[in-house]
Order: sequence, then structure tokens, then C-alpha cells
Amino acid sequence: MIGAASVWRWAKSFRAGGMKIANRGAEIAPFYAMEVLKAANDRAAAGDDVLHMEVGEPGGGSPRLVLEAAEKALRSSRIGYTEALGIRPLRERIARYYEEVHDTVVDPSQIAITTGSSGAFVLAFLAAFDPGDRVLLTTPGYPAYPNILKSVGVAPEILETGPETRFQPTPRLIAAAGPAPDGLLVASPANPTGTMLDQEAMSRLADYCAENGIRLISDEVYHGITYGKPAVSALEFSESAIVINSFSKYYSMTGWRVGWMVVPQELVRSVEMLGQSVAISAPALSQYAALAAFDASAELDAKVAGYARNRELLLGELPLAGFDKLAPADGAFYVFADVTRLTNDSMEFCRRMLAEIGVATTPGIDFDPDRGHAFVRFSFAGDYDDVAEAARRIKKWLS
Ligand SMILES: Cc1ncc(COP(=O)(O)O)c(C=O)c1O
Repeated sequence: MIGAASVWRWAKSFRAGGMKIANRGAEIAPFYAMEVLKAANDRAAAGDDVLHMEVGEPGGGSPRLVLEAAEKALRSSRIGYTEALGIRPLRERIARYYEEVHDTVVDPSQIAITTGSSGAFVLAFLAAFDPGDRVLLTTPGYPAYPNILKSVGVAPEILETGPETRFQPTPRLIAAAGPAPDGLLVASPANPTGTMLDQEAMSRLADYCAENGIRLISDEVYHGITYGKPAVSALEFSESAIVINSFSKYYSMTGWRVGWMVVPQELVRSVEMLGQSVAISAPALSQYAALAAFDASAELDAKVAGYARNRELLLGELPLAGFDKLAPADGAFYVFADVTRLTNDSMEFCRRMLAEIGVATTPGIDFDPDRGHAFVRFSFAGDYDDVAEAARRIKKWLS
């Protein structure tokens, strides 16, 4: 794991061998979930039996129909560049998805296919904001948001949230935080808490943003993975919101690096031109494969039923191990556990858990640099048997 010391060393090295090194790297925190993944893989390579609960990655591979579509495309399609905004059938299919699932009409010309949702964030921030603009984010939250914002010169402003608002922003919290920001980034279901904005909460936020000239960016990558009510889309309430989604989570296609963004009319051309230069296009093979993902709901819904079983198991077992404050997630596949009763240093706690019992988890500082030392995130996207074995090891370890 990279510690604070090595980051600090980087911050001080403005030149190496006489060559300039950008200061930007020093401002970006490591993504600890990925650092833990690296450490866990090192242990596994050394022959240890490691259980992965650190990364948000669906187990069991991509749907059969997706694999078949990819095989067919390899044989029959030219795997070349596509138009910067993506292949037309996929953009049309995504537009139809919004009609079918959210009863909202969107023109296919507003859909941009991107290299995962991660690629969409880069394009969205570049198209919507100038260097020095301010974008409000909540903590706990997904660590790549501030890192990507900083890397394009936009200032992330942090809004601390707690259980009172289910770790989500509200107009009142935003107004109390200071002058209106240029943008607001929300995630529903959110990572790491799994909480959602319901219809009323999303519509109030969308109205507040419209009234105050705040560009709403809605991360909807966990749509489809919910345990009660389905998720609502910002698109149902706002024409100026940028909506970002992905084939990584519900569709189980992490490594294909394909996602999408619904872009307000006034930003489409900027996103297209930026996309032409930044990535040229999302991977063609992944786009052909992703088109088949919309027909794989039987297989994908069975996966969600599996996550629901894992969630029940963890919500039952973790309190027995001493994790007494858990927020039962509405969606996504994480449990964000308060570990104050067990430790005041979640980083060291996670390091020991991996070293002593081979269970890889993510320290809360990934999601909340100030309060995260008191939290650990468990991802339950893997197999039921692995989750059960991890729970057994943790209970024994802490007993
Ligand atoms: C909230 C959230 N947004 C975006 C992403 C990025 O996913 P991808 O780039 O694979 O679409 C993740 C990945 O874990 C996430 O948790």
C-alpha cells in the first residue's frame, strides 16, 4: 500500500534528473481499493488464499450473450475506430432504455459511449467546467471524483454528509455550505454507502440546481442493483443534468471499459470534439458486446439476486463480529461499516485483516479522508461461498 510518506516525497520532487514533474500528481490521493487489490494479488501470487472484498467488481464473468456477441463481432465486424460518440445502434438502444425504464424521451444524438464511466467523467468535467470552477461533492464518496476533478484543474469542494440525510446532499446542506458551486455531483445508489435519492429528493435537488445555475452531474452506475425500490434517474427531472452510467456494474462488464453519458444538447458538440481527441472512441469490440447486454436481463437479474443474498448474509454476520453500526444499503454491493468499536485506524485494521486472515477490504479513508479512519468498506459483489468464508474468518479473528 502507498503510505502518506511516499505521496509526500512525490510532492517534493518537482524535478528529477533535471526534468520537470507536474505538481498535479502530488495533489492526487492514491485509490486505496486499488492499492489493496495490488497487495492482495501479491499475497495470492505468493500462494495465500485471499478473499477479495476490496474492489467493486461483479463476480462470475460477463453474461453469455455478451461473450457470444463479442465472438461474432470478432469474426464479422471490423474492429476499428468508431465514431467518437459511439456506434449508432448502441446509442439508439440506450435511448430506448430511458424510455422503457424511466419513461423519459432522450434523443440518441445525446448519448455518448465512453471508456467506462471513468472516461465519461473526464469528458463531462472538461466540457462543463473551466479551470478554477468549483464542483461540490459529498463525503463519504467515490475517491476518483476529486482526483479527476483536480487533474483537469477544477476544484472539488467537500460537503460532509451523515446518516441524518442518508449520506446524500440536500438543498439545505448545499445552501449552508457557502456560495453556489458551478457543479454538484451526486451518486445514487452511492459508493460506499449504497444509499439512494428517492424521487422527491432527486427532484428537489434538480430544481435547486436549475434555480441556482448549478450543473448537476448524476452518477448512475449502480442502477439495476437495488434491494427495494428501483433507482430514479436525474434525467426524469432535469434537461441540463449530465447523467453518467456504465456497463461495469449491473451489466458485469468491468474489463471491457465501456460506459455512457447522456449529454445536454448544449454540451454534445464539445463532448464529441473532446472525445475525438482524448480517446478517439470507446473500444469497438466492447461496444458491439455491450449492445447484447440489454438482452441479458435474466442472467443479470439472477446476479442481483445473488448480491441480495450476500447482503443479507453480511448484515447478519458482521454485527456478530463486532461491527455494530452498519447502514443497510438500498443498492450497489457494499457495506460501509463503522469500526470505532474495533479500531481508530481503519488503514492499519485493513492491512492486518489482509495479512492475518487473507481478507482484503478497503479502509474508509478512500472515501472520506477526514472521517474514514473510523470506517471499512466491504464489497459483497463476489460469490456467496467466498463472502460466507470471509465472514467466518473475520468472526474468528475478532473473537
Ligand atoms: C460510484 C462509481 N462511479 C464510477 C465508477 C467507475 O466505474 P467504470 O469506469 O468501470 O464505469 C465506480 C467504480 O467502482 C464507482 O463505484
